[in-house]
Amino acid sequence: MSLVTKENTPMSDSRTKEAPPTQDHVTVTDHRTGREYDLPITDGTINALELRQIKVNEDDFGLMTYDPGFSNTASCRSSVTFIDGEKGILRYRGYPIEQLAEQSNYLETAWLLIFGRLPTATELQEWEAEISRHTLIHENVRHFINAFRYDAHPMVMLISTVASLSTFYKEASDISNPEIRRLQMIRLIAKMPTLAAFAYRHSLGHRYTYPNNQLSYIGNFLTMLFNLNDRDFRPDPVLEQALNLLFILHADHEQNCSTNAMRSVGSSRVDPYCSIAAATAALYGPLHGGANEAVLRMLAEIGSVDKIPAFMKSVKAGERRLMGFGHRVYKNYDPRAKIIKEMAHQVFRVTGKNELLDIALELEKIALQDEYFVDRKLYPNVDFYSGLIYQAMGFPTTMFPVLFAIPRTCGWLAQWEEMQGDPANRISRPRQIYTGSDEVDYVPLEQRGS
Ligand code: CMC
Repeated sequence: MSLVTKENTPMSDSRTKEAPPTQDHVTVTDHRTGREYDLPITDGTINALELRQIKVNEDDFGLMTYDPGFSNTASCRSSVTFIDGEKGILRYRGYPIEQLAEQSNYLETAWLLIFGRLPTATELQEWEAEISRHTLIHENVRHFINAFRYDAHPMVMLISTVASLSTFYKEASDISNPEIRRLQMIRLIAKMPTLAAFAYRHSLGHRYTYPNNQLSYIGNFLTMLFNLNDRDFRPDPVLEQALNLLFILHADHEQNCSTNAMRSVGSSRVDPYCSIAAATAALYGPLHGGANEAVLRMLAEIGSVDKIPAFMKSVKAGERRLMGFGHRVYKNYDPRAKIIKEMAHQVFRVTGKNELLDIALELEKIALQDEYFVDRKLYPNVDFYSGLIYQAMGFPTTMFPVLFAIPRTCGWLAQWEEMQGDPANRISRPRQIYTGSDEVDYVPLEQRGS
């Protein structure tokens, strides 16, 4: 930054004589002092630290920005995922989500996200083989799962058990070693479905089905979930394909709440199991990955199409939210929701139609025409239709966020891995505007009154 006024103030120094920078910049006038500052603009941003030079005197800390929820703050540079929320565009490493949804599979997409390009046939084969070799979990993790209450939420079991993996793979704390990092990424992608399936089976009181390395990633997951004791069990190929597609769509979404948790916790240089546990916890919330569960509960509560007007009235009165609608970034139809809506019909041909679909379709129709939603640019997001599909496939609603966490693991890891190589990476540590009292003297208990 350069100071461009010529005022004779304590802040006047060599910078006052600097010529305005040749690169893009913005000039800020501080009306408290009358000084002007040139702030360089790089990639459409200004560096927040530049603002610290804007002070009323030398004792002043300098200007900060106030941005609760990071609505307008870039926390990192990233080449993993691109979103244009106004146009409804989503790309992983430059590839449009529509093309990946049609032509890729989940493990290939995971490779793409983590390593930055599409794998060769040999690389993909080796990757798939490596992942399938790491699907088993230590028996003590199984015992750990046994210790949960019968009605424990599977997402919380997942959060706890993935963190517990840190105690089994102690070398994971050496995050400066790329080979060690790679191995933990493989383990995490491989074991998340096993942990999730075991959590599900625990909630049913059914014995666990162990992973089968001969099956595909998704086929193995469906088998661990649904095969009770049938040696000839084969998941329905349409459902396997549908889950593969859903996994691709959920694989990454740039700097959302859980990815921010992954990066923020990971910035302390803790091992990736602990960071993934934190990210999974963030995803569990009803405003994030828990929204698909909340959508189903909402649809069930509405119950029938004729109850929709009363429900919409309460949403518009601010009494509640239309779950599965709205997005911090998308101010247009979420491209993932579009693909899922189309896919739903294929799934329903196999499973039978989900009776809540009519309510969802009618809600969407009304919302897309209603001034309240139109003015606020609220469109269906990824969670609006995914829950209907999961439910038709036989998943209980408590499994929905788990079905989000498994595929998002590769996105979290891609972002975490990218962070390791970023020279600008520092421990996450925001500032605050302190609103508490000034210094006060301690009052002994007996002098405090009642
Ligand atoms: N229903 C009703 N009103 C809404 C909704 C909704 N779903 N979403 C936003 N609004 C209103 C909100 O009340 C506010 O209105 P006003 O300006 O009059 O106060 C305005 O729209 C802006 O909302 P906001 O809360 O400032 O927006 P945000 O960017 O902070 O929140 C969101 C984004 C996703 C948390 C929010 O839209 C929401 O709560 N949606 C429902 C939950 C949901 O579906 N979450 C899944 C998100 S997609 C999957 C993922 O990435 O996790």
